[in-house]
Amino acid sequence: MTMHPSTGSDGSVGPGGESTLPSWLPDEPTVNRMAAEFFTGISSDFPEVPSAPTEFDPEDIPRDLGDTDPWGALTAFRTPVSSASQPSAAEPTTTPRFYFLDEAEAPPPDRGAALPSRDFDVHAIRADFPILRERINGYPLAWFDNAATTQKPLAVIDRISAFYQHENSNIHRGAHELAARATDAYENARAAVARFIGAPTPEQIVFVRGATEGINFVAQTWGRKHIGAGDEIVISHLEHHANIVPWQMLAAETGAVIRTIPVDDSGQLRMDQFGALLSDRTKLVAVTHVSNALGTITPVAAVVEQAKRAGAVVLIDGAQSAPHIPIDVAALDAHFFTFSGHKLFGPTGIGAIYGAAEVLRDLPPWHGGGNMISDVTLERATYQPPPARFEAGTGNIADAVGLAAAIEYIETLGVENIAAYEHFLLDYATARMGEIPGLRLIGTAGHKTSVLSFVLDGHQPEAVGRALNEKGIAVRAGHHCAQPILRRFGVEATVRPSFAFYNTCAEIDRMVEVVRQLAMNSGRRH
Ligand code: ALA
Repeated sequence: MTMHPSTGSDGSVGPGGESTLPSWLPDEPTVNRMAAEFFTGISSDFPEVPSAPTEFDPEDIPRDLGDTDPWGALTAFRTPVSSASQPSAAEPTTTPRFYFLDEAEAPPPDRGAALPSRDFDVHAIRADFPILRERINGYPLAWFDNAATTQKPLAVIDRISAFYQHENSNIHRGAHELAARATDAYENARAAVARFIGAPTPEQIVFVRGATEGINFVAQTWGRKHIGAGDEIVISHLEHHANIVPWQMLAAETGAVIRTIPVDDSGQLRMDQFGALLSDRTKLVAVTHVSNALGTITPVAAVVEQAKRAGAVVLIDGAQSAPHIPIDVAALDAHFFTFSGHKLFGPTGIGAIYGAAEVLRDLPPWHGGGNMISDVTLERATYQPPPARFEAGTGNIADAVGLAAAIEYIETLGVENIAAYEHFLLDYATARMGEIPGLRLIGTAGHKTSVLSFVLDGHQPEAVGRALNEKGIAVRAGHHCAQPILRRFGVEATVRPSFAFYNTCAEIDRMVEVVRQLAMNSGRRH
């Protein structure tokens, strides 16, 4: 990971007399300059962009924002920073005027209110991701498909390569040096996952292929053991198919009943209706932490608290939260929490499920084979304690090690810093996209990660996706494996840009320009 070379944590001026501000904050007296100049990473990182996007003019922002500025997103771009609040070299401060730092407009804590580090340098960070130098159709790649999968820093790519060059072996078996190295690397990776999500012990982390397998693991172990005819499983309308289908399969097998927490028109859970769904028949509540289709951050602490009061076991799908907001499973106190490595800037095919110790201890194995047994005769087998009991066969050792490298990379940046920066990108993009006629945002909850689902009058989402791809901008367009929630909003598909900490406002401007052009063209047709 490369840190900005000229900004010391003490705020001192760098050796070349550079700005003392974080590189992504303004050193000019108005924050308008920030939008126009400080978030233009593409032009400095890449050769000239063919038919460059129209430059963002803050004066384009309508004066009467009305309901189009629900979170005060534009405030930052319009309010001159007074000399009193402007950080200076003489009086270094870590609290520049920024709408999401303003007490009066402070966001809820889980939207990442922390101040990004002075060293959070998006341009330096981008250099850590080789793929961001790709050109697509002659344009620099703008990777806005982070909810589908994230790009990998060199630290991850190199770590996997180093594993195969110096440590590769099966684990827990050999009497040789490489077996010891591989076993250490794999178990250290488990410890890194535990640390990252706040699990009390590494033994509570089971490696799986990803969140989908984590949820299926719970359904096939805990679910088959504890759920019977007439028992109820509560999910929410926001769920990814991965947190719907395994429960439908289990319900078909056991005669259990699935009940659903509805959402309001912003895409947030109707917690006022959640309590009525809970009863002594409720055995499991399985809810997403962040909607992959809308970006809604759900009130999981309240979900866990109410579900546990009703005597239910709780599973939180963290596939879309772990990469973007701080996670503390011990504080959350759910029974299960799962996430995928590839959405966390790590490799595909690796993820983890955390389980509360007493629940994991009680679970039967689900896959039988090597590694998970303590003794086998031709008549019977006895099993290892967790987590080995649930990891039959040779696992994805190298990618677990790669996942640990991704976690270390994220920890170096700081999850709070990531959340704050992505929050900024979301608000910037929401404001700019809100200016486009005929564009309807799908998912406007007050608590969101950096997902911006939308539909555009007169244009199929897939066509918008293709138009963006022509300009090098990658978004997902479709149902996002979350058909029920899209249908709740009366659509079958959306365009879904989803941002990560390596994205910039300049990239967002490029997207806005393409979508604005499409909107203008359809306006002419009408
Ligand atoms: N779950 C992934 C997405 O939302 C694939 O795109």
